Amino acid sequence: MTEYAIDMQNLTKKFNGLTAVDDVSLTVEKGELFGLLGPNGAGKTTIINMLSTMLKPTSGVAIVWGSDISSDPTKVRRSIGVVFQGNTLDDKLTGRENLDLHGRLYGMSKNLRRERIMEVLELVELPERADEIVKTYSGGMMRRLEIARGLMHHPNLLFLDEPTLGLDPQTRNHIWDYIKRLNQEKKITMVLTTHYMEEADSLCGRIAIIDHGKIATLATPTELKAELGGDIITLATATEDSAAQLLKVCKELELVTDISLSGSTIRITATSGERAIPQVLNAATKEDIQIESVNLRKPTLDDVFLYHTGRAIRESNVDEMDRMRFMMQSHRK
Ligand SMILES: Nc1ncnc2c1ncn2[C@@H]1O[C@H](COP(=O)(O)OP(=O)(O)O)[C@@H](O)[C@H]1O
Ligand SMILES: [Mg+2]
Repeated sequence: MTEYAIDMQNLTKKFNGLTAVDDVSLTVEKGELFGLLGPNGAGKTTIINMLSTMLKPTSGVAIVWGSDISSDPTKVRRSIGVVFQGNTLDDKLTGRENLDLHGRLYGMSKNLRRERIMEVLELVELPERADEIVKTYSGGMMRRLEIARGLMHHPNLLFLDEPTLGLDPQTRNHIWDYIKRLNQEKKITMVLTTHYMEEADSLCGRIAIIDHGKIATLATPTELKAELGGDIITLATATEDSAAQLLKVCKELELVTDISLSGSTIRITATSGERAIPQVLNAATKEDIQIESVNLRKPTLDDVFLYHTGRAIRESNVDEMDRMRFMMQSHRK
């Protein structure tokens, strides 16, 4: 019998009238780097909080590294590390002191703490800054220290809740490298949550797209994108009427697998975008419809999300808010 890293069945969490997590079942295999992708409020943190025994489920069961989260939370906690969504470091302490505090909470001996602190600091390339107060760290360094802290007691499974929230792209890339290395070289099973599409795409072997507390779809990024049936062509016409007219004729084209309309913009999915575009343009000319712009691209996880939920995760808007939230979190206390 295979033992999963995580086996959750019908997990549900209700807050008063709100169902934050709605009957979610999934399994994560040992060694996986698994992603929960979804917009703010989708229920990702609530899932992580239940799996890491911080929050009791309303119903459902979950076995984490062989132990039941409800009946055996202490054993679960010994197998896992958690990097929480918000900054939970004490910024008046040094990096080393933060790690030491964590080691004490886990009942580690002084010698073991000293050994592990050096080990995890090296892993995230922070030894030179170890004795400086966390307040002087950059956002990326704080995140790296939190990852280090999550690894102090050698967990088999590490939960990372929005590991790069609010970080700039370069720092984000840097954190991605650590996450990949920990999974590949140290063989740590990981479950991360994110609302950044590229993060899920670049890091995760499999992804569950979460929306309104439910799994909208679950597969590898490649499978998810392939499922959409091809390339995406976006055409802008001058008016909504001409777009509607063009939609009608494009529907008949052989290469077109899906087509939708939003105002005066048409979105076409086609098995070969390069070959479909001339056909579409010919059709437009025949109908005397003026095309203002054409765009062709390969599908991204954004498109996957849109396809499954009917909505887009507008990341550019979110980014600024995240940065502000991150800064506010860092300056609280
Ligand atoms: N302690 C709580 N009490 C009431 N509602 C909550 C609580 N925690 C989360 N929620 C709500 O549950 C939903 C899911 O939240 P969350 O799991 O934080 O989403 P995500 O991490 O995907 O952004 C949201 O609507 C949120 O407002
Ligand atoms: Mg969250």
